[in-house]
Amino acid sequence: MDNVIHFYYRGAVHSVEQGAPTRTILQHLREDLHCTGTKEGCAEGDCGACTVVIGEPTADGVVLKSVNSCIQFLPTLDGKALFTVEDLKQDDGALHPVQQAMVECHGSQCGFCTPGFVMSLWDLYLKQDGGPTAPACQPLQRKQIDTALSGNLCRCTGYRPIIDAAHRMGELPPVSFDRAALQQALQPLQRDDMFTYRHEGQTFYAPRTLAQLVAVRAAHPTARMLAGSTDVGLWVTKQMRDLGDIIYLGQVAELTSITLRDRQLEIGAGVTLNDAYAEVCKHYPELSEMWQRFASLPIRNAGTLGGNVANGSPIGDSPPWLIALGAQVVLRGPAGQRVMPLEALYLDYMKKDMQADELVEAVRIPLPHAGQRFRTYKLAKRFDQDISAVCAAFSITLDGDSIREVRIAYGGMAATPKRAALTEAALRGQTWTEATLDAAIALMTQDFQPLSDMRASSDYRMKTAQNLLRRFWLETRTDSPLRADQVNPFACV
Ligand SMILES: Cc1cc2nc3c(=O)[nH]c(=O)nc-3n(C[C@H](O)[C@H](O)[C@H](O)COP(=O)(O)OP(=O)(O)OC[C@H]3O[C@@H](n4cnc5c(N)ncnc54)[C@H](O)[C@@H]3O)c2cc1C
Ligand code: FES
Ligand code: FES
Repeated sequence: MDNVIHFYYRGAVHSVEQGAPTRTILQHLREDLHCTGTKEGCAEGDCGACTVVIGEPTADGVVLKSVNSCIQFLPTLDGKALFTVEDLKQDDGALHPVQQAMVECHGSQCGFCTPGFVMSLWDLYLKQDGGPTAPACQPLQRKQIDTALSGNLCRCTGYRPIIDAAHRMGELPPVSFDRAALQQALQPLQRDDMFTYRHEGQTFYAPRTLAQLVAVRAAHPTARMLAGSTDVGLWVTKQMRDLGDIIYLGQVAELTSITLRDRQLEIGAGVTLNDAYAEVCKHYPELSEMWQRFASLPIRNAGTLGGNVANGSPIGDSPPWLIALGAQVVLRGPAGQRVMPLEALYLDYMKKDMQADELVEAVRIPLPHAGQRFRTYKLAKRFDQDISAVCAAFSITLDGDSIREVRIAYGGMAATPKRAALTEAALRGQTWTEATLDAAIALMTQDFQPLSDMRASSDYRMKTAQNLLRRFWLETRTDSPLRADQVNPFACV
C-alpha cells in the first residue's frame, strides 16, 4: 500500500497517488475531484466554510470530528474516513434532518457558509447519536450549540435562524449513522508499519510507534514535525512556505495517551486540544472558560496540546496556565527522555531548548494541592476563535492568609511565555492583602516591557496584565472573595 494515500470517501476506498504532501483536503476536493460543496473562505481555519467531518478508528470505535479541510494535508487522511456535505443526502434523496432544519428555519441566505454550518451541525447531531463520546440523547443546550458553531462565520443570515435549526434538527425523524459499518470499512486501511509518501523529492513520513518516530526524527532532523496542522497548515496556505520533508505524529499511538500517575497528569503530545482540556478541566474546572475560548471546536479537534507547547508562540494560550501550574515538558530523542520545567523550554522568541533530533513527547501537570487558588484569563477582541492580546495565569498557595507559594505567567507580555519573577517575589511569604497586591503590581513594569502590535498597545498590555492580577486577588482574597458572576459577564452563559 506504499506511496498511495488510501481513505474512505463517498462509500468506497479512495486512493491518491499524485500531489504534494502539502496539498490540502480542500484543494483535493474542489480542484481534483470537482466536488465543490465544501467552500473556501479564508484558507486559514478561521471561517468554517470548509468544514468537513473526519472519521478515525480507535479502540473504542470510530470517532467522528469536524475539522477545517483548508489547513489539513491530504496524506494525514490515510486510513481515515472523509465526510463532506455531499454525504448527507439520504438514499431516497431526502434531506438529512440537519439540512431540513436549516431549510425550515431559514438558516441560509447567500449560502456560502452553509455547507460548513451543516457539517458542524452534523458533527453535533452525531454526538447525540450514540458515538463513543455521546451524552444521553436529550435536547441540546444553547452552550453545546454555541460550541459546535464556534468555528463558523456567517456574514448575511445572522446566527439566530441557524441556532433555531440546531434545536429543530433533533425534532425531525431521526437518521442514524452506522459506526460499526464504518469501523469495518476502515479496518483494511490500517497499516502496521510506517506510511511513507513521496512526491517530487518531498517525503511525508507517518510512523506508527514512538521508536519509529524517534528514529525517523534522528535520520531527518531538518524535516518539519506535523501534529494537528493548525499552525503549520497556515505556513503553506498563507505564507506559501516550502516545508520540505514532513514527519506526521498523528498515527503514533503512544502519543495519544493520558495517564494519571504520582498525582501528575501526563498528556501525550498527540492528544488533541479538546481532549486535553476536557481532561485537565476535570481537575481544574477554573480552566473551563479557556477550553471554550481556545480557537474553535474544529481547531481544537485537530490541534494538539503538544503542538501548542512545541510551537512556543508568545501568545499561545496553554503555556501560561501550564507554567503557572508547574508543568513539565517531556522531550524525547535518540538519547532518551529529557524532562524540564516548561518555562525552561522557552529561550527567546520562537527559540527553544530542544535539539534538532528531539521532539515533545508529553506534558506533565501536577494535580491541585491544599490551599491552592488558580485562575487563567484570556483577553482577546472576540469571545471565540481569537488569539489573545494578553493571557494570564495565576496559581497561589495560601496558608491561612499568608502566601506559601506563587507562580504567575503571562502570554503576550514578552518574546516568550514568561513568569513574572519580581512580582512573584514581592508576594511570596507575604499576607494576601490589597497592600501586598499593590506593591507587587508596581513591580510588573520591571518584569515586562510588552510590545505594541495590531492586537494591543504596550500600555494596554501592561495595564490589563496588572488589572488581571488585581482581579485574581478579588476572586481569591480570604476576606469576602468575589463570585465568578461578579467579575465575569460570561460566567452565567
Ligand atoms: C483559526 C485558528 C485559531 C487559533 N486559535 C488559537 C488560540 O485561541 N490559542 C492558541 O494558543 N492558539 C491558537 N491557534 C494556534 C494553534 O491552533 C495552536 O498553536 C495548536 O495548539 C497547534 O497545535 P497543532 O497540533 O496543530 O500543531 P502543528 O501546527 O502541527 O505544529 C505546530 C508547531 O509545533 C511543532 N510540533 C508539533 N508537535 C510537535 C512535537 N510533538 N514535538 C516537536 N515539535 C512539534 C511543529 O513542527 C510546528 O513547528 C489557532 C490557530 C488557528 C488556525
Ligand atoms: S476556508 Fe475558512 S476555515 Fe477553511
Ligand atoms: S448565508 Fe451568506 S455568509 Fe452565511
